[in-house]
Amino acid sequence: MKLFLDTANLDEITRVAEWGLLDGVTTNPSLISKEGGSFETIIRKICEMVPGAVSAEVLAPDYEGMLNEGRVYAGWAPNVYVKLPMTLEGLRACRTLSDEGISVNITLVFSANQALLAAKAGAAFVSPFIGRLDDCGEDGMKLIEEIMQIYDAYGFDTEVLVASVRHPRHVTDAAKLGADICTMPFSVFEKLAKHPLTDIGLQKFMEDWSKSR
Ligand code: E4P
Repeated sequence: MKLFLDTANLDEITRVAEWGLLDGVTTNPSLISKEGGSFETIIRKICEMVPGAVSAEVLAPDYEGMLNEGRVYAGWAPNVYVKLPMTLEGLRACRTLSDEGISVNITLVFSANQALLAAKAGAAFVSPFIGRLDDCGEDGMKLIEEIMQIYDAYGFDTEVLVASVRHPRHVTDAAKLGADICTMPFSVFEKLAKHPLTDIGLQKFMEDWSKSR
């Protein structure tokens, strides 16, 4: 499973890239708005730092506007993935941009039928938001299971990008289901490496060693 960071913060991206574990980055307008600098500058910089896919979301609500923005973003770097919302206009723009060779990530996906349409529209990635489903009392991981089943049944190439991840258990469960990608905030990424028994064990090894010297 590929591991992506869900952030537009360059310091966080630098840290995870240094660990050698970063496969890509997802951004959205909320994440970009927290950082200083222009949208273009931020996306170009992230694309230089990360060899993998970097998602940049359009702001236009209509087909023509999405095409215009998507084509501009795709010209910024070869690893830009144009993020389009899961609307009928977004699906239409997805088909056009995908046919032009531009990689598209369909975002704000909350049902299996939406994921089916995204695949049929030629999306490179589909982004189901599992944490937001959990937040309103639904089972986000059940949606991943359904999408994986449908994509496997028909051999769709669209990669399942598990988004809106809240904690490490989400990552484990997504990996067990064979999801292609998991994107997560820095705080969750860091927690993947941690276990209290590792810390306690390491401390004990060091104490025992220093006692014997
Ligand atoms: C994914 O591409 C989205 O940016 C993200 O995962 C949304 O997560 P949130 O529900 O924590 O805002």
